[in-house]
Amino acid sequence: MSEVERTDLVPGFRISRIIKGGWHLAGGHGPVDAQQAVAEMDDYVKAGITTFDCADIYTGVEDLIGTYRRACMAQGRADILSTLKVHTKCVPDLDRLATITKGEVQETIDRSLRRLGVERLDLVQFHWWDLSVPRYVEVAGWLGDFQRAGKIDQLGTTNFNTACMRELVAGGYRPAAFQLQYSLLDRRARREMIGFCADHGIKLLCYGTVAGGFLSDRWLGRPMPAESFENRSLTKYRLIIEDTGGWDAFQALLRLLREIADKHDTDIASVAMKAMLQDPAVSAIIVGVRHGGHLDRHARLFDVVLDASDMARIEAMVARMPMLDGDVFDLERDRDGQHGRIMKYNLNQS
Ligand SMILES: NC(=O)c1ccc[n+]([C@@H]2O[C@H](COP(=O)([O-])OP(=O)(O)OC[C@H]3O[C@@H](n4cnc5c(N)ncnc54)[C@H](OP(=O)(O)O)[C@@H]3O)[C@@H](O)[C@H]2O)c1
Repeated sequence: MSEVERTDLVPGFRISRIIKGGWHLAGGHGPVDAQQAVAEMDDYVKAGITTFDCADIYTGVEDLIGTYRRACMAQGRADILSTLKVHTKCVPDLDRLATITKGEVQETIDRSLRRLGVERLDLVQFHWWDLSVPRYVEVAGWLGDFQRAGKIDQLGTTNFNTACMRELVAGGYRPAAFQLQYSLLDRRARREMIGFCADHGIKLLCYGTVAGGFLSDRWLGRPMPAESFENRSLTKYRLIIEDTGGWDAFQALLRLLREIADKHDTDIASVAMKAMLQDPAVSAIIVGVRHGGHLDRHARLFDVVLDASDMARIEAMVARMPMLDGDVFDLERDRDGQHGRIMKYNLNQS
């Protein structure tokens, strides 16, 4: 089996190119068994998937990772933690954006430190719900202060558009990484963001690569689902499918991915993930994990090597599908629109 590839976000900050996503352990994606979730973290690390994504607002997830870290220490396995990188986020509540203070942001950073059981956070990805509240450069500056104080190793951003990334960088913020939705179904980053990040040495960490599980054999040949989903991710990505040509176009993409999967003796989700990893703009993908059932495929992802003709066929198919409107996260940022209406905006202080 090929080893899980690794890459540096900045020199010496080494991550696995497939990152275990934590949103799927935060509730709203079906039942989660905490003990099992912690045991599966160890399975992922042992398989070489040594980077975890979480957030201050993913309820209970920083605590679960902290439990895993403490268990390793108690078992005398501190060495395994030397490979672990935990990427968290700083997501001030929508209702607090106009008035939030430096002390309050520091408290959420200190809370992440306590929950994770670390003295310094590896990476903090900054998110801002409403760009019309023009305080994100100021708040980003505070995160820079906390970095200089030793509470944070690397800074990142998530879900900003290119204009705001430009403002943040001009204001002195130095993100090592940008976390965004970039996938076979969502190519908005190609308009401006990829070029901007390349120019500034900002590495892309991409979610959405299996569209909540839609980009998998499970949905091949099935009629468009009408039910409401237990997994919030599926609710979100069904809207993306509707906006990129609908269910028929999506099924045509699944059939093509199945043909390519047959050629490489793998499955549709692995082809969808690997196609993104073979995009030179992409440093790593973040894949949601709420149970260990997909670990074998995730660990074997680097056995799958798509050739130029596979990549060209995929590219030709997605180029025929309508591209989502706007820049990165513009649709989701519209709280009156269908993508924005399904989000939860005030999870931090609750
Ligand atoms: N910055 C942000 O705003 C933001 C937004 C979204 C996500 N994220 C991060 O990115 C992570 C991934 O989220 P996402 O939205 O991109 O979800 P995703 O990874 O597209 O979907 C995850 C779901 O896909 C299914 N899946 C995973 N691997 C599979 C495989 N090999 N074969 C078949 N199905 C598979 C699983 O469904 P089942 O559990 O049903 O099997 C899993 O729960 C999150 O956990 C979070 O850490 C960040």
